[in-house]
Amino acid sequence: MSERLEDIAVQMVAGGRGLLAADESTSTIKKRFDTINLESTETSRRDYREMLFRSDDAMKKYISGVILFEETLSQKAADGTPFVDIIRAAGSIPGIKVDTGAKPMAKYPAETITEGLDGLGERLARYYEAGARFAKWRGVIAISSTLPTRGSVRANAQALARYAALCQEAGIVPIVEPECLMDGKPGDHTIDRCSEVTESTLRIVFEELADARVNLEGMILKPNMVIDGKNARKASVAEVAERTVKVLKATVPPAVPGIAFLSGGQTTEEATAHLSAINSSADLPWLVTFSYGRALQDSALKAWNGKPENVAAGQREFTHRAEMNSLAAKGSWKKDLEKAA
Ligand code: 13P
Repeated sequence: MSERLEDIAVQMVAGGRGLLAADESTSTIKKRFDTINLESTETSRRDYREMLFRSDDAMKKYISGVILFEETLSQKAADGTPFVDIIRAAGSIPGIKVDTGAKPMAKYPAETITEGLDGLGERLARYYEAGARFAKWRGVIAISSTLPTRGSVRANAQALARYAALCQEAGIVPIVEPECLMDGKPGDHTIDRCSEVTESTLRIVFEELADARVNLEGMILKPNMVIDGKNARKASVAEVAERTVKVLKATVPPAVPGIAFLSGGQTTEEATAHLSAINSSADLPWLVTFSYGRALQDSALKAWNGKPENVAAGQREFTHRAEMNSLAAKGSWKKDLEKAA
């Protein structure tokens, strides 16, 4: 496997494969497990993630890389095989979430700044040793009629750029994720407002990336789609696709090899339909795929329900969603394929 950043970045997004975001922090995975009344322990987290990573067909055909939480990067399956080896054996690349979370930003009520830059260089060296070849950092941008502020967007963009530069020095491809929230509070903003905020955020992010001397060919962008707030009316699939492509074309240089969307609170099928419609657009200068957390896992988590006897059922659900999203990454998903399955 090539170790060039540019080659790794292309591998992450090419061939109709995409990323599995399985990097829920300990507090986030607890929230997910609460929905199936399962206690979150090191063992239950291991069992759940082992179910996903051992979905051989899904991993080999549809999943180019897996974003892991620090605990999982060094964790072993029940039989003692390191997760990193299981992921690699499927031809998929292990990656790592390296930010330490979005924290309330001083003097900016209702906005956050993502932390984790202190000591990041040394941590990245350790993650590289442990097998990670890409990383993720999520900056969170609140949307309302008055938010975000310039100060918060600038600070988050600068942190993303510092992180990306450190990753590249460590031989790790940075996933740059500025998420303009669909499901924040109040979440009743229009698609117009999302479009305006996403466009200005991406402009500032690429300014900061340039100032930080980040090599655009050795990174992946993980943006939100341009979409109505979760508590607002729902724009059509065609409108979401058209407006998302418009904003990305206006802001993302073609030197960036790939865009891998987050799902951000869309239902599983919406996230697939939108990605497929986006990929049906003409003349996209980048490869466009998924980097979904909830939209790849929700149905698998439910089917598994924390029970060993349901592992195969959970894997079937995960494989199905991975396959549907892989089709979407090629622009060839159709709604009746969902029913057929
Ligand atoms: P969702 O697809 O659930 O939004 O998660 C993706 C992710 O990695 C957010 O940081």
